[in-house]
Amino acid sequence: MTVFNPPTSSDPHGKEVFIRCRNVSKSYRKGKTIVTPLEALDLDVGRGEFLALMGPSGSGKTTLLNLIAGIDSPTTGELWVDKQNLASLKRGQLTAWRAKHCGYIFQLYHLVPILTAFENVELPLLLDRSLSRKERHSKVAAALDLVGLANRADHRPTELSGGQEQRVAIARAIVTNPGLLVADEPTGDLDRKSATQVLDLLREFSSEYRKTIVMVTHDAVAANAAQRTLHLEKGQLVEQVQITTSEPTEV
Ligand SMILES: Nc1ncnc2c1ncn2[C@@H]1O[C@H](COP(=O)(O)OP(=O)(O)O)[C@@H](O)[C@H]1O
Ligand SMILES: [Mg+2]
Repeated sequence: MTVFNPPTSSDPHGKEVFIRCRNVSKSYRKGKTIVTPLEALDLDVGRGEFLALMGPSGSGKTTLLNLIAGIDSPTTGELWVDKQNLASLKRGQLTAWRAKHCGYIFQLYHLVPILTAFENVELPLLLDRSLSRKERHSKVAAALDLVGLANRADHRPTELSGGQEQRVAIARAIVTNPGLLVADEPTGDLDRKSATQVLDLLREFSSEYRKTIVMVTHDAVAANAAQRTLHLEKGQLVEQVQITTSEPTEV
């Protein structure tokens, strides 16, 4: 088996590599057949880069996001995030790693309905026993402030608009100050104005706070907010897509 080294401090373009996938494959058993949505995939993402991932439904976008987030492990290959080879971690270690290093933003927010915005954002901090109540509260207040919702702290999800719910979910994802944010169609259920607010926040986290962001999207406008877009097709990542038109081609 080939052993890859952890990413060196810079790639050929002088950027620090934050995520490095080498020869990553992921297979699932579906009844008697084996599905392999990702096959021998290579990917480098720089620290602080905002990357968009596109591709048809079922092409493995969520699968890749879950590997990068440490929710799932690759079947083969190596996956480094910030000098940690996730493929070498056991399930419990992976869970601990994820709680510290990765914030996950979902299409449908996944807020706890009976909790207020403040309590939802506080949830990930409750895992950290070293924090006092006062420290937790100041972190929650700062995160809600960053997403522009300091004045909605006591509202429950049903009392918020979709865009506000997603911004609470973003506050929850960043409250532990992770280096990595992954987002699975974060604007898929939002109107254009709310989507723009969410995308502006993600851009700000990448440019001002050097968070590395990997965002799955179906929406070309959302992808435009990112610095780079990759397309997942047949288990592989491609940078350029062939634009096909219905125009007849001359021969
Ligand atoms: N936990 C799982 N068990 C079995 N098959 C799965 C699982 N997760 C994803 N798949 C399969 O892997 C393929 C890619 O799925 P997914 O990553 O969700 O695609 P996308 O997010 O691009 O729509 C699909 O064929 C899907 O059915
Ligand atoms: Mg998906």
